[in-house]
Amino acid sequence: MSAVCCECRVLSQEVLAQDIRLLAVEWTDTAHLPHAGQFYMLRSWGADEAPFLSRPISVHAYENGRLEFLYQVKGQGTEKLARLTAGDTLKLTGPAGNGFDVAACAGKKIAVVGGGIGTAPLYQLCRELAKAGNKADFFAGYRDLPYALEPFEAVCGKVAFSTDSGKAGHHGFVTDLFEAGDYDLILTCGPEIMMKNVAKKAAAAGVECLVSLEKKMACGIGACLGCTCHTKEGPKSVCKNGPVFNAKEVF
Ligand SMILES: Cc1cc2nc3c(=O)[nH]c(=O)nc-3n(C[C@H](O)[C@H](O)[C@H](O)COP(=O)(O)OP(=O)(O)OC[C@H]3O[C@@H](n4cnc5c(N)ncnc54)[C@H](O)[C@@H]3O)c2cc1C
Ligand code: FES
Repeated sequence: MSAVCCECRVLSQEVLAQDIRLLAVEWTDTAHLPHAGQFYMLRSWGADEAPFLSRPISVHAYENGRLEFLYQVKGQGTEKLARLTAGDTLKLTGPAGNGFDVAACAGKKIAVVGGGIGTAPLYQLCRELAKAGNKADFFAGYRDLPYALEPFEAVCGKVAFSTDSGKAGHHGFVTDLFEAGDYDLILTCGPEIMMKNVAKKAAAAGVECLVSLEKKMACGIGACLGCTCHTKEGPKSVCKNGPVFNAKEVF
């Protein structure tokens, strides 16, 4: 289904950690409901203001007209988003992209593996899996301390996390936390190096692995070729053909 563009009202914005924000907006277009792994292009600034391009942010959670984005403040675009408060409006284009196919996960034992802000789309994924009667195990890796992790407890089986700093959880990599062979399918989002290692572990155990790729995006709807990635079948756009791909196709 094609993405739509509209002005949406901000319901709330919370600071979850120094550079992590949870932004909730109203999304009442029931003909275009967002699904796990899809994203929106966000813009809270004028057409003639910098930055020139809108910013892609994943669906963190959606329910009953409340759409949530979990994001990290990195540069000009996300700094502007971080200034939004309840009652403000912003322009959303979406829901965009091919997300996770939750129906195809039926009957499979699933591990969901996230790294840092790459955990953002995985909450909606775990919610949709739980709703379909198939709670996944969730493994997350963070640099220092975890954030936005507690809500996963209600919608997952096992939940475990690691930190690079060792300040909390397992001191080490997220890939230390699970045995790929215990699962039928592994779904992952995070830094590319982490996803490559998750995919390697899955391949060694003969387990299918789907990855959600990140590329800088301009249009977000497959019109500009700005987000092309190389796949075994030739070049594809991450915004339209992805962001979710089979790991074997892209790594
Ligand atoms: C499909 C998709 C979904 C995404 N979902 C989320 C999400 O849910 N939460 C979230 O926090 N971020 C998400 N991102 C990344 C987010 O779009 C970028 O962090 C954001 O555009 C940075 O914009 P900025 O203007 O704040 O920073 P900029 O000034 O543009 O950049 C600041 C720094 O971030 C790096 N950066 C910029 N864009 C990207 C990118 N696409 N990938 C990796 N590094 C980037 C730049 O190289 C630079 O170092 C997603 C990206 C894609 C493609
Ligand atoms: S961002 Fe324009 S084609 Fe993907």
